[in-house]
Amino acid sequence: HRPRPLVAGNWKMNGLRRDLGEIAAICAAVGAGDAGQAEIVICPPATLLMAAAPICKGSPVALGGQDCHIEASGPFTGEISAEMLKDAGAEFVILGHSERRLDHYEHDHLIQEKTKAAYRAGLSAIVCIGETRAEREAGEALPVIAAQLAGSLPGLSTSERLVIAYEPVWAIGTGLTPTLGEIAEMHRFIRLRLDQLLPQQGVKIRILYGGSVKPGNAAELMAVDGVDGALVGGASLTSADFMSIAAVY
Ligand code: G3H
Repeated sequence: HRPRPLVAGNWKMNGLRRDLGEIAAICAAVGAGDAGQAEIVICPPATLLMAAAPICKGSPVALGGQDCHIEASGPFTGEISAEMLKDAGAEFVILGHSERRLDHYEHDHLIQEKTKAAYRAGLSAIVCIGETRAEREAGEALPVIAAQLAGSLPGLSTSERLVIAYEPVWAIGTGLTPTLGEIAEMHRFIRLRLDQLLPQQGVKIRILYGGSVKPGNAAELMAVDGVDGALVGGASLTSADFMSIAAVY
């Protein structure tokens, strides 16, 4: 049994109001059946969520945030809570992206707390994990991933609320991807660990691949055994590219 695939677009720090047309185009295409079986999530910058919400309303496209604070509200200048994302129209939030882990020194325990905050607010979490090039070259990829999973995931995670995104850091925005065999091996390993960490749920939790997913390689990447969808960065910024990735399902 294969879970319903999920294709999520992470716009990162890209997108102004004039780009809302891309979201409208994605909603129209998904509504017309162009994403096949796949569930579709767009994660624009938080400034666009409230304007995107009425565009997505009534379409099968869900919105997500890209990060959240561990608290619901309070004196945390510049931060956004999971409740606020939910209030603005999000149903998902990306947590523990490598750009947060590396550039903002986020560690596993913080990501676990953020994931709990997302659940409390009624959001689903897309928790990102991935090894650096140095870690892979040192033969450390599997232990690094095991530690990230063990440290970042709350024990009360369910397959409705949690999605994992495996993103090798060296594949993000570089045009490089692991071999199909390496992806299969890693997704098998992640599944094994999820099974151990989250009895009953781990077997059903979706494991996305992310890192240089493009229209030209999406079909072969998404066909890899154990890949339940994609987290797309650069290629999610234009509706045509994003939809040709979603269309592999
Ligand atoms: O969250 C998305 C990933 O970081 C992948 O980014 O598709 O631009 O390589 P990319």
